[in-house]
Parts: sequence; structure tokens; C-alpha cells
Amino acid sequence: MKHTKIVDLLTGKNLLHEVKAKGWVRTFRNNQFIALNDGSTINNIQCVVDLDKFPAELLKKIHTGAALSVTGTLVESQGAGQTVEIQVNKLKVYGEANPEEYPIQPKKHSLEFLRENAHLRVRTNIFGAIMRVRSTLSYAVHKYFQENGFFYFNAPIITGSDAEGAGEMFRVTNLDLNNLPRTEEGNINFKEDFFGKTTNLTVSGQLEAETYAMALGSVYTFGPTFRAENSNTSRHLAEFWMIEPEVAFNDLDDNMDLAEDFIKYVIKYTLEKCQDDLVFLDKRLQDEEKNKPQAERSGMSLLEKLNFVVENNFKRVSYTEAVDILRNCKPNKNKKFKYIIDGWGADLQSEHERYLVEKHFKCPVILFDYPAEIKAFYMRMNEDGKTVRAMDILFPGIGEIVGGSEREERYDVLVEKMKAMGIEEEELWWYLDTRKFGTAPHSGFGLGFERLVLFATGMTNIRDVIPFPRTPQSAEF
Ligand code: 4AD
Ligand code: MG
Repeated sequence: MKHTKIVDLLTGKNLLHEVKAKGWVRTFRNNQFIALNDGSTINNIQCVVDLDKFPAELLKKIHTGAALSVTGTLVESQGAGQTVEIQVNKLKVYGEANPEEYPIQPKKHSLEFLRENAHLRVRTNIFGAIMRVRSTLSYAVHKYFQENGFFYFNAPIITGSDAEGAGEMFRVTNLDLNNLPRTEEGNINFKEDFFGKTTNLTVSGQLEAETYAMALGSVYTFGPTFRAENSNTSRHLAEFWMIEPEVAFNDLDDNMDLAEDFIKYVIKYTLEKCQDDLVFLDKRLQDEEKNKPQAERSGMSLLEKLNFVVENNFKRVSYTEAVDILRNCKPNKNKKFKYIIDGWGADLQSEHERYLVEKHFKCPVILFDYPAEIKAFYMRMNEDGKTVRAMDILFPGIGEIVGGSEREERYDVLVEKMKAMGIEEEELWWYLDTRKFGTAPHSGFGLGFERLVLFATGMTNIRDVIPFPRTPQSAEF
């Protein structure tokens, strides 16, 4: 007999039939009640064991974490909190989990402790919920783009270019470290990396995606990206997943419309599909909030926050307007910003971004038309000669979730800009070809997938929303 997923058993449609479930023990109460979970849902199925039917030797093997197969009759449950349960007739233990050694016991573990056990933490309710939400969000990403005429484009992972021009790349090499090639001066000849070329792990698939948008019209990437920045914050990873749509003939306004519509869609989809997990995460967050001082509490539950984003327009504000607000505001009763904005042109720090979103506008904000100096080389210059057609989307509790722009499609302007920023034309000859042959206005953006998962789950540390986080301090697994 084939086993049935617990999520399907809990619907009760097999009531009074013989069923089989396979999963891992969450708890074994009074030597009689097994709470079994198979990952298909946050909910366990209760399996009731009649002591007299099974040898004590077998029951002794049932502990939290053990893998089981149970066969029995699905009946209505008398117990609180569940509608059905299995009256067990047959029981098989696949693998035990010695309680002296197994780290995941039925008690509250700290997130730090669980990070140290990244290979086992998904066996807890909280990480099961997060990873199911993550999976659903991924599916929604593809669903949105596929249903809106976009083609999925696989950007290369190993590239020769630095898409952001920020120099934050991990080099890729096939050099024999015991026998490094040397220049005539005796220095290591890195030019011979990767079969004679200098290469790195991609920091963004954008430049390659632009070449495809110039033929397929609308494309999107969704893949891993790498940044060798030494940022030990709760918002940065060295390896993260990025979604990057790129659309021919879109201007910056179209780009903002796309980003807003896309984010609303994936959150709405997840609200519909992950109800049980989101209700659990919501409750967790409310318990956390209770321990915070009143002033730091957000005032909205997770579900309210998600619904708010889906139902309300994002506020669109130019960089210049935002700077005016920040220069004239009182961030706190008696506290100033750590970095004071005293002139036009400075990059905003996360404290400023969060002030705008959380205190001033109290909704997601799209900032646009940033100073050219603080943005990447490929962004389209505005008529004022000072600002570029850039946009960042800022989210409550997260800060920047999206970075994007209308691209500089004018060959001469782009070449000038690259020169000014010290980017070699030879390095990006293929990119410049898109501007030489059939160039056209186009726009796109990058959304950091983990930042979206952070928002959707109400978690606060990015290390908790990716299975095996890579940060400057942790790449153990
Ligand atoms: O703003 P960024 O650097 O933009 C780009 O890479 C563009 N090429 C995107 C494009 O226009 N196609 O990164 C985009 C987003 C950020 O807004 C942030 O959400 C996320 O990627 N991000 C990170 N997420 C986690 N860890 C990091 N170290 C991140 N760096 C960027
Ligand atoms: Mg950015």
C-alpha cells in the first residue's frame, strides 16, 4: 500500500479507511500518542498506539526525530486541535534518533542554535514553514513572469565582467595553487585564471539579460548571485538569489509598475497558498513582539503587513524629495541619525531608508532619479545631467528590496560614462554591441529573493531564510 501525504490525510477524505503515513516523530506522549510530521504541512497527524498491540522493544525506539511508517484506520479525533487521527495497526521504525545525541528536541531552540545546525533545523516547525513559503514564492515568481509573456533566461554563473562595477567579486580559477604561473617580474599571473581568462562568479545577470531582452523582448533571470562584500549584517549574504526582469521598450515608469505589480502578485499568491505556515509565523512574531518595549513594536501583525502591501499603492518619491524630508525631519524624540545628510548627492544609509518607509510614509516606497555618481554605469542619464533613471524599492523592516533602472541605450553617452568610471570598453565590447545594433530604450530591476522571503515570513535575519547561508563568517555546511 502506498503512503499518503499528511496534508492530504488531514483533509479527512479517507475517513474510516485504512491509510499509511510516513514521516518523522515530533513528540511521543504517554507512550501512546505519536505526533507525526512529513514536511507536507506544518500540521502533524496524531497516531494513536495501543500499547498491548506492540512489543515494548519496538515502542522504545520511538523518539523525537525517528523516521516511521504507520498503517491504520483514519478516524475522527476526540482530542483538541485535530480533526482526524490514525488508530495504528502496523508500525515500522526506519531510523531511530537517540535523544541523548539528537539536537532537535521538543522545546524552544534559539535561532542561533538552529543556525549551527543548519542541516537539521528544517525539521522544526519554524524552518519547515519558512522553507515552504520560500518554495511557494519561487513558484509564484515563475508563474508571474511566464503568464505575462516573459522568457526565463539562464544567466551564466562564471563571467568575465563586473556587472555592478563595484569590484565585489569572487574570482574563479583553475590555477594549480602549488604551481602558480608567474609574470616576468615574478608576480602571480592571474590573467591565466580559468583557462587563460580572468573570471569571477556573477554579481548580477543583468548585462547578459539585456542582450536577450534586445531579441526576446521580455526576459527574467532567477538564479544565484555572489558578492564578496565583507558585510556582516542581517540583510547581506555572500551568496543570494536574485530575480532580474529586463524588458525592451520599457521606461522607468513602466519598470516601477512592473516591480510593484510583481511583488503584489507573489505575496498575494503566497497568502493564498501558505495559510497555515503564515498563521504559524504570524503567531511566532506576535510572541516575539510581546517581549519588545512598546516603542519598538510594529503594531501590525505579519498577515496585516502582507495584506497591506498587496492592497496599497507604493509611494513614489524622487531622491531629491527624499533628501529634503530627511534633512527636515526629527527621526526620534532626542536621537539624530548616525549619518547626517547635509547635502544633495550623498548615498542614503539604511537608517534613512527605514525612516522614510517606517516613520514617514508608513508604506513601501519607490525612490527614483538618484545622483549619477552613486549609481552604476549603465543607468540612463536624465536631462539635468546630474541624476540617473534609477529606482530602489524600500520595504518596512527590510530597507532596499529592489534596485533597478532604465538603461543608458545611447552608445556615445554610455561609452563616455564608462570612460569616466574607468571601465574598459574592450571588457564590455559585447555589451556595447547591443547599443550599436538596433539599440532601444529598455529597463529592468533586481529583487533580492531572500529579502522578499524575510518580508513574507516576518523573520529578521537573512541567515534564517536560505537553507545554507554563506556569509563572511559562515560557510560551514
Ligand atoms: O541593487 P543591486 O546591487 O542591483 C543589481 O545587481 C542590478 N544589476 C539589478 C538589475 O537592475 N537587474 O541588487 C539588487 C537587489 C538589492 O536590492 C537587494 O535586494 C539584493 O539584490 N541584494 C542582496 N541580497 C542579499 N545579500 C546581498 N549581499 C545583496 N546585495 C544585493
Ligand atoms: Mg542596490
